[in-house]
Order: sequence, then C-alpha cells, then structure tokens
Amino acid sequence: MAVRHGRAETRSATKGRPVSASAAPDIGTAQGILRLGNAYCEAQALLTAVELDLFTALHDAPGTEREIAARLGLHGRGLRDFLALLAALGLLEERDGRYANAPAADRHLVSGAPGYVGGSLLGGKANLYPLWNGLTDTLRSGRPRAESGGFERMLGDPEELRRYVRMMEGALRPLVPELLKALDWSAYGSVLDVGGCAGDLAGWLVTEHPGLEGHVFDLPEMEGPFGERTAELGLTGTMRFHGGDFFRDPLPRADVLIFGHVLHNWSPERRALLVRKAFEAVNPGGVLLVHDRMLADGPDDVDNLVASLIMALVTDEGAEYSIGEVTDLAETAGFTPVTSRPLEDNETLVLCHKPA
Ligand SMILES: C[S@@+](CC[C@H](N)C(=O)[O-])C[C@H]1O[C@@H](n2cnc3c(N)ncnc32)[C@H](O)[C@@H]1O
Repeated sequence: MAVRHGRAETRSATKGRPVSASAAPDIGTAQGILRLGNAYCEAQALLTAVELDLFTALHDAPGTEREIAARLGLHGRGLRDFLALLAALGLLEERDGRYANAPAADRHLVSGAPGYVGGSLLGGKANLYPLWNGLTDTLRSGRPRAESGGFERMLGDPEELRRYVRMMEGALRPLVPELLKALDWSAYGSVLDVGGCAGDLAGWLVTEHPGLEGHVFDLPEMEGPFGERTAELGLTGTMRFHGGDFFRDPLPRADVLIFGHVLHNWSPERRALLVRKAFEAVNPGGVLLVHDRMLADGPDDVDNLVASLIMALVTDEGAEYSIGEVTDLAETAGFTPVTSRPLEDNETLVLCHKPA
C-alpha cells in the first residue's frame, strides 16, 4: 500500500503515559504526495473486492480470470487489472494465471472466518466513505455530514438497530480479552456498563466472573437488543438493563463503572459532566474504566486522528480526546489515583480509582 500505518509505541508528552500510535506515510517526494492523495483508489479496490466477496470465492479453490468472472457474475471489463492490482497490493497471489488469496486475506476477508473484518470494511464503505468527501464542508461549517436525526431514526428501525449493535460488537470484540484482565474483578461485586449497548461486555464479564452483578445503562430503545443478546449468552434474568438518558437521569450505583466508546461522542463540557456523574455513581473503593481511541499529545497518531475526524463527520460535537484531558477530568471529579495503559486496536484504557 502507498499509505502505511505502521504502529509504534509513543508516550503522552504531558502525562508520560504510553499510547499506541501509527506513523505517517512517506510524503518526502512529489510522487509520495500524489500516492497519498490517490490512496482512496487502492482503498476502493479492497472494499470492492470485499463487496464482491472475492476472497470467499477463492477460499476453497484458486481461479483464473475467466473462472473468477463466472463465479462472481462479472462482465470481465477491468477484471484483469483489478486482480493484478489486488495482487500488487499483496491481497492476492498469482501463479500461472491462477489467483489465490494471500494468507492474511484468507484469514481476515473470507466471510464466516473467525478473524473476518469485512463487516467493518463494508460498514465503512457504506456509511463513512461518502462522508469523507464532505470534510471540507464540515471544516467550513462545523456541522457533521451525517444526516441530522439519523441516530434517533436508526433507534426506531429494528433492522438498522441490529446492524448498529453488530457494528458496536465488532469494534469491542478485539478489546474484550484485555478488558477481562484489566482489574482483579474478584475484588468487586458489581459492574455497570454505561452506554453498554446490547450488554456484550457486561455479559462477557459476568460469564467469566459469575460473582459479579452485571448492569447495563443505555437508551430505552436498547432494551430489545439487550434481551436478545443476554438470551444468546444464556444470561437471561442474571443481568439488569436500566433504560434512561445519561445526561438527564441518575446513574445506578456500582463498584465498577465503564464508559467504552462513549465520551468521544460528546463535547468536552459533556465529557466533564459524565465523569462527574460517574464519580457519584461509583461506590467508595470502586473504579471508573474509560476506553476510547485516545489521542497522543503530539500530532503523530494517524489512525486515531482519522478516528477523531470521523467523529467530526458523524456527530454534532464529538472528537477523540487526549489521555491528559480525561485524567484531568477524573482527578478534578475526585478520582485518585488515575492511571492508563494501551489496549489493542489503538485504544487506551484509563483506570480512575475512587478512594474508599
Ligand atoms: C458508540 S456506542 C458504545 C457501545 C459500547 N459501550 C462499546 O464500547 O462498543 C454508544 C452507546 O451509548 C448509547 N447512548 C447514546 N446516547 C445516550 C444517552 N443519552 N443515554 C444513554 N445511552 C446513550 C448508545 O445507544 C450506544 O449504545
């Protein structure tokens, strides 16, 4: 790929805590700059291959150009160049005129495989790709590109709501093993996942630590998906759903409270309000866990800066925020000590302890 986002470890300048960062592409020449400007073409080649389900079609048997056209029902025009481009990008391997999946494509782009990431790519193709063309307008107006009222409409449409829940689950899944190890959970009696969606994380925590009481607080519309998910996990009746608006309603009390992918949806003022409400809700001796794709204090973290611009394109006031900001908010609210550590997938976990 022309744009390489190699991950590197860096440290927050103000708080000295590690964050996971990704490097900028090489733009030292005119050619490098042009390649970066045209990187959307390579991205579309990959997204189109996933949309056509090409990698699934090649999983059992490699194919010639003609066989691939027949398997996928394609016209044939452009196909030779398309396959050669995917091979040049390292996604396919070509031998004697037959194309096969490269090993990583076979692991991550074959639908139904445990490591499949195509759902997230297709979600991005459908929902985010068109919005990026409006970044200029967002920067000029401060307004997001996503339709206003779209989130509320989605909540009222069972099919769209199900798709949203699956997307959230996909983003959360790589983090679960580390979140399960984030604390000595046996020292705590209850966990409340605020904005906990259908209850995936709370469900996994309760399954792993049956002594924990599991609670989820989310908008009332999420109660249906919560009921379905807890049934799938065999936890019906063992976890509790609290429907409400976290800006208007009090939060239930718990030993451990979680904000996962929640604070980045809101303005700094609303983030401060939520952290103060969390301090009230956490029992003495308990912990608030915050995780998001937080920003390093230096401008060197390409993936998370991209994630932050996505928040500008899709939310009214959200942005990724720095570890320093959330640490200051937590300390001002009364949490001490406040520590942080990197998680998978460029995420950071901040642990805010409430004194006993
Ligand atoms: C981006 S999702 C995060 C889901 C999950 N915590 C995760 O880590 O993937 C944000 C969640 O906050 C919920 N939410 C948004 N506004 C809310 C509000 N005012 N009160 C309660 N929940 C809200 C949404 O319904 C959604 O489930």
